[in-house]
Amino acid sequence: MTRPLPQTPGKTRAQHLRILRHAGELKYHYLGITLVSVLIAVTALLTPFVVRGATDEVVAGLQGGGGGVRVILYYAIALLVVEVLNTVLRNIGGFWGDMMAARLRAILSGRYYDKLLRLPQRYFDNTLSGTVIARLNRSITEITNFLNSFANNFLPMLITLAAVLGISAFYSWPLAVALIVIFPVYTWLTTMTSPRWQALEKQKNAHVDTAGGAFAEVVGQIKVVKSFATEQRELRRFNREYASTIGLTRRQSSWWHSMDVLRNTALALIFFVVHAIILVKTVQGDFSVGTMVMLLQLVTMAKQPVTGMSWIVDTAQRAIAGSVSYFEVMDEVEESTEMHIDQRAVAPLDPVTPGQPVISLRDASFGYSDSAEDVLSGVSFEVMPGEKVALVGESGGGKTTIVNLLLGLYPLREGSLTVLGRDHSRTDLAELRRSIGVVFQEPALFSGTIRDNITYGRPDATDEQVVEVATRANAHQFINGFRDDYDSVIGERGLKLSGGQRQRIAVARAMLKDAPILVLDEATSALDTRSERLVQEGLDVLMENRTSIIIAHRLSTIAAVDRIVTLRDGKVDEIGTPAELAVSGGIYSELLALQAEGGKRNRKRLQSYDISG
Ligand SMILES: Nc1ncnc2c1ncn2[C@@H]1O[C@H](COP(=O)(O)OP(=O)(O)OP(=O)(O)O)[C@@H](O)[C@H]1O
Ligand SMILES: [Mg+2]
Repeated sequence: MTRPLPQTPGKTRAQHLRILRHAGELKYHYLGITLVSVLIAVTALLTPFVVRGATDEVVAGLQGGGGGVRVILYYAIALLVVEVLNTVLRNIGGFWGDMMAARLRAILSGRYYDKLLRLPQRYFDNTLSGTVIARLNRSITEITNFLNSFANNFLPMLITLAAVLGISAFYSWPLAVALIVIFPVYTWLTTMTSPRWQALEKQKNAHVDTAGGAFAEVVGQIKVVKSFATEQRELRRFNREYASTIGLTRRQSSWWHSMDVLRNTALALIFFVVHAIILVKTVQGDFSVGTMVMLLQLVTMAKQPVTGMSWIVDTAQRAIAGSVSYFEVMDEVEESTEMHIDQRAVAPLDPVTPGQPVISLRDASFGYSDSAEDVLSGVSFEVMPGEKVALVGESGGGKTTIVNLLLGLYPLREGSLTVLGRDHSRTDLAELRRSIGVVFQEPALFSGTIRDNITYGRPDATDEQVVEVATRANAHQFINGFRDDYDSVIGERGLKLSGGQRQRIAVARAMLKDAPILVLDEATSALDTRSERLVQEGLDVLMENRTSIIIAHRLSTIAAVDRIVTLRDGKVDEIGTPAELAVSGGIYSELLALQAEGGKRNRKRLQSYDISG
């Protein structure tokens, strides 16, 4: 799970500033929008003045004076011009606002993805991918919405308000005072509303994230869901999360709207005073009818931003709530990879030094989380240049864990791990990983074509190279059988391939990487005996002069290795050649005896079928 953030007001304010810092790159957009906003406000403010002139002209005309219909029409034309100008400016502002939002969305999304790619394996072990995506979408949508509406609406409102205050102060200071009182009252009522709203929003977001995580997982594993016929249960689980958000919304929204009634009633009371001042002063002869109309129009203009403010406050609250989870991810501690270097620019570690171990694990202890028990304790072994070493142990014994450690996916708890002369704690992980070709126990492929997958580590590989590794991995034949051969699309995670086909593509991918160290974790476990033998021949060629670590439950696969390391209860049990360990009475000889016995039994069973058949 991500670390919970302390919810202090100071922190929230800091988050706010960080959003603006991201927006700093968009300062020209901001500047443009600000400028347009000022012009919008000015044109909007012109209208009441024109209306005042027109009203006074009409009143004068009714009393037999004034410039007549012609002048009145000039006023009407002036109103038209101002209106059109205002519309054009608003749309220019809207356009820039959209552009700014699009840029901001691109920047924030890119940073988030970049950050995620730098996070250690542990983060992904504990977070559902659907949750990560749900969070990203919400955070960025809400931050962007806020900045967009802020830029487009808030600034013109603020400018209008300032002008209205100035003008009303010019005509009557009690009027200005009454208008000013609105702000502390309104802000106070808003800050009273906010914390509870935010807390509920956070709970709602948590439900949506959980639902998103479950959703993505079920879609990704739909075959399992179908096979157990658990669709309805999964659906109920999903619906339950959203149902919770309805209840929370009821509380959240009723709270917000009750507070809004309170807020706007307070506002109405203040406006009652404002209107009373204007009307009474006009009757007393202090204002002309034109001025009265103008002032009424101006204070109505002031009312709009204040009520509109509740909407901006709302998007701001969402943005704050959204940005919390965004910055939670941004605050995660990164892995020490030099990710910003282009992959091709990353050289493998120094070449193998003869006589020096390529891999050296000393007194290594490890557990998957700080509180978890040791999976490995005090494990030591070395792999010399060109040596083939097999890891043998029971299922769950920690073999794959050693591969994970070798790749630097997790830090050691104790002890040291040196690869190609460099200690893990002082190695650039991207460099390290360039030096190791791995076939994982679960051959994870990408959607896309077979060629894309084989060339994943070397996008610049030629067609000849691709065909060569595919042939060595005994994959060329079946690929040729597909209609689009190497351009066949294989579905998400390679879903359209058989398990054994997937494995062979993964082997070809590792072969093409051509790294000095090769790790095969059950690389041929899904293959029939004949295919395995063919792939094994390809791998034997690959392993020549290459340092290799091999994990296989089928012991025939590892019969030809130089040495075997057996693991028992997270510790190294024995190290020796296959011949030595076959007679030592340790795990290897036990497993060997079991497999031989199994083989004999199977043969017998097959023979008996033969006879009876
Ligand atoms: N990402 C993980 N987080 C927490 N625990 C894990 C994780 N991966 C593995 N483990 C635990 O570590 C132990 C060793 O697992 P590991 O995958 O290394 O076994 P293995 O020897 O490769 O087994 P197998 O032969 O079945 O592949 C297991 O008890 C497993 O539950
Ligand atoms: Mg394993």
